[in-house]
Amino acid sequence: MSDQTQASGPSAARLSDRRAFLRFLAASPVMTPTAMSAIAAALAAGSSDAFAQSYDVLRAPQQATADGIISAPEQALNVFDFEPAAKKALPPAHYGYLASGVDGDETLKANHEAFSRIRIRARRLIDVRKIDTSVTIFGQKFGTPIMLAPVSSQGAFHPEAEGAVAKAAKLKGNGMILSTVGSTSIEDVTEARGAPVWYMLYPTDDWTVTEALVKRAEAAGAPAIVLTVDRQGGRNTETLFRLRREDSRVCQDCHLGGFANEVSRKPMFDDLDVTKVTNLYGTGMTWDYVDRLRKIVKGKLVLKGIVTHEDAEEALKHGVDAIIVSNHGGRAEESLYPTIDVLPEVVKAVNGKVPVLVDGGFRRGTDVLKALALGATAVCIGRPYCWGLAAFGEPGVAAVLTLMQREFETIMKQVGALRIEDINADAVTRA
Ligand SMILES: Cc1cc2nc3c(=O)[nH]c(=O)nc-3n(C[C@H](O)[C@H](O)[C@H](O)COP(=O)(O)O)c2cc1C
Repeated sequence: MSDQTQASGPSAARLSDRRAFLRFLAASPVMTPTAMSAIAAALAAGSSDAFAQSYDVLRAPQQATADGIISAPEQALNVFDFEPAAKKALPPAHYGYLASGVDGDETLKANHEAFSRIRIRARRLIDVRKIDTSVTIFGQKFGTPIMLAPVSSQGAFHPEAEGAVAKAAKLKGNGMILSTVGSTSIEDVTEARGAPVWYMLYPTDDWTVTEALVKRAEAAGAPAIVLTVDRQGGRNTETLFRLRREDSRVCQDCHLGGFANEVSRKPMFDDLDVTKVTNLYGTGMTWDYVDRLRKIVKGKLVLKGIVTHEDAEEALKHGVDAIIVSNHGGRAEESLYPTIDVLPEVVKAVNGKVPVLVDGGFRRGTDVLKALALGATAVCIGRPYCWGLAAFGEPGVAAVLTLMQREFETIMKQVGALRIEDINADAVTRA
């Protein structure tokens, strides 16, 4: 069947009419947030059928953009289209916070560029009309291997913050990890996601506070505590500092000094005595700390930020249940090592004993496939969903997830994979 015949006929026409109607409704000034959610769900639901065919795009209403910047989520052709829209929507300092890497942003750029050095081997004559993209991790089933990485302070990007992200994640069944310094409580995020979320922990230098954070997350049903281990020093976020100069607002009006002030808008610290805490990032954490945490974490313990086989081997010795290969999206050290290039050494060291996830620079469905082919169990995305959030709230996040999922399904079919387990090293070669 050709692309053209697949996309034509009465059902494609009905779908296109339905989408046009939903878009009309979404643009209406009388829309309530609940109705907007329902529309975002309906738009996302049609992703993998006729809408995925290029000829439908040609038949859809003309989507003019001002200065090439999209003004509605459905105008986006890929996730990159959301970044300029987010930049337009945000004050310069908040956009700078989202965009920044460290030093010259070289590791940030390297993360994505590295995917272009990996090529995909397409296979033919396999019936791929029905594929299954679901993955099960720690007994929890997700509709897709694309998870949402923990990103702090999402209230800086949109008033609905992590709540909007969680609702969008629910639509496609994406797993979600909530940051310790999120703008929304784990109880509210879990409710919006309609399923337990993983909780990412920045340990404090007061064990009582750290323990209380873990207990609260577990009481909310978090199956995994994700300890981030890559922020053990200061960092030079030059892009943030530069863009801050363009911001006419007074940052100190909101960002007062001192730990208590820093976390005053972070609900996970509500009701906690934080007077003994000095910071979250320079706590002198060692493997002893992982042991101590292992003893109190009842569910799974995950380390995020591992980038070498030595540390992966050590993690296994300390009873860690999964690893996330990550350099914090190029926001930790300026190592110049893209995470996709260090993934194989971690996968080899782990040797199938625990799941290995990876993040950093994932922007295309093909990027996701490459990581799975190199042995990742799942991948996480950070900035792309925040661009969607900043620009359009929940429908923006839903569109980002839909676009990446659609691209992923397309390339999965091209390598002849019917299930995630079918994606293996044969699917890729190094350029
Ligand atoms: C604005 C911002 C805030 C972040 N906050 C956290 C955080 O609180 N905890 C954490 O472990 N990682 C944090 N990260 C890193 C992400 O979890 C993830 O590793 C990274 O964004 C992946 O790279 P990508 O943005 O290229 O997809 C943050 C990233 C960004 C961009």
